Amino acid sequence: MNEKYIEVRNISKHFGKVKAVDDISIEIKEGEFFSLLGPSGCGKTTLLRLLAGFEYPTKGDLLIDGIDVTALPPNKRPTNMVFQNYAIFPHINVVKNIQFGLRKLGLTKAENDQRVEEVLSLVKLEGYEERYSNQLSGGQRQRVALARALVRRPKVLLLDEPLGALDKKLRDEMQLELRNLQKSIGITFVFVTHDQEEAISMSDRVAVMNEGKIQQLSQPNELYKNPNNIFVSDFIGETNFLNGKTNEKHGDKIDVAIESLGNFKVDNRLNISANTSDIVCSIRPEAMMISREVQSDWDISLPASIKQTSYYGEMTRFYVEVKGIDQVLTVSSQHFDNQSFQTGECFVSIGLEDIALLEKK
Ligand SMILES: Nc1ncnc2c1ncn2[C@@H]1O[C@H](COP(=O)(O)OP(=O)(O)OP(=O)(O)O)[C@@H](O)[C@H]1O
Ligand SMILES: [Mg+2]
Repeated sequence: MNEKYIEVRNISKHFGKVKAVDDISIEIKEGEFFSLLGPSGCGKTTLLRLLAGFEYPTKGDLLIDGIDVTALPPNKRPTNMVFQNYAIFPHINVVKNIQFGLRKLGLTKAENDQRVEEVLSLVKLEGYEERYSNQLSGGQRQRVALARALVRRPKVLLLDEPLGALDKKLRDEMQLELRNLQKSIGITFVFVTHDQEEAISMSDRVAVMNEGKIQQLSQPNELYKNPNNIFVSDFIGETNFLNGKTNEKHGDKIDVAIESLGNFKVDNRLNISANTSDIVCSIRPEAMMISREVQSDWDISLPASIKQTSYYGEMTRFYVEVKGIDQVLTVSSQHFDNQSFQTGECFVSIGLEDIALLEKK
């Protein structure tokens, strides 16, 4: 496997004053499911269009499989794209839509037919050959769009929010399907989404983008557990931010005064300097424990009171006021249902290993 199948080298794309893509460098592995994740307008589509050749960079180079494709047009690149507002043609049927993907490849009719048959089976649309767009469900239309891109046998498939138009349940199904399809055909996927759950559940690696820059590029669990900055910590999942100030360093740990709770020795993974007040502590809602009794075997166990409770089926979310903390914390737990533990006095417990120290920037 080529570890540097796609090499994006210091690529920028400016539209007038807008730096849609701002000096990005990434390497994508052969056969990888790679996602670009970020809020609307952060430059995801622009980066994908640069990979496809629909835009040319203001600066920087792009290599695919060792070949410099920076100046090549889309049809000279081993890529194909499924567009953000995917449209399949309404006036032609499924087969003709898929055949559209084969135009200008110069294949014989027999080769064409064989490819269409193969790809129909791959996306499970056998029996739907004659249907028109208005006779298909959203998920089926999405599969036609995929088939039309896959039938060219690209080495790299670029997908721009391909599941954005689907409802939640269908979306979940298609996520699994797409992931399985990618693994079975083994081609490299570059997948764009603004949905963090989708990105972390499907991808081998995720690049989190904001304002044209990569904020962090990691495996999904790393993004969740070890965010590099406040943006990533906030964007991936839910969290609580507590204010603090660092004191003395002790090797890879550091003393932190958290709110008015006192001093705690926590991991200093990002090597933040001593004696700085520009820091926050990020603590995930599910990392904290809520109980009626004090938990003396936890590092921190604080008296608190539950202000509000929301029941979500698989978990319950508690909004709690904790003595010494100047804001309402969100704690989530799978162990209580709505009836037994709704309001009143409680204890909130925290393990020091679950505190991620981040710099305000
Ligand atoms: N052709 C263009 N001309 C001028 N500005 C553009 C052009 N294309 C994109 N932009 C700007 O570049 C920035 C990035 O746009 P882009 O479409 O890449 O965002 P995105 O991350 O795909 O957003 P979304 O999630 O909404 O699709 C935006 O500020 C956008 O307005
Ligand atoms: Mg977009």
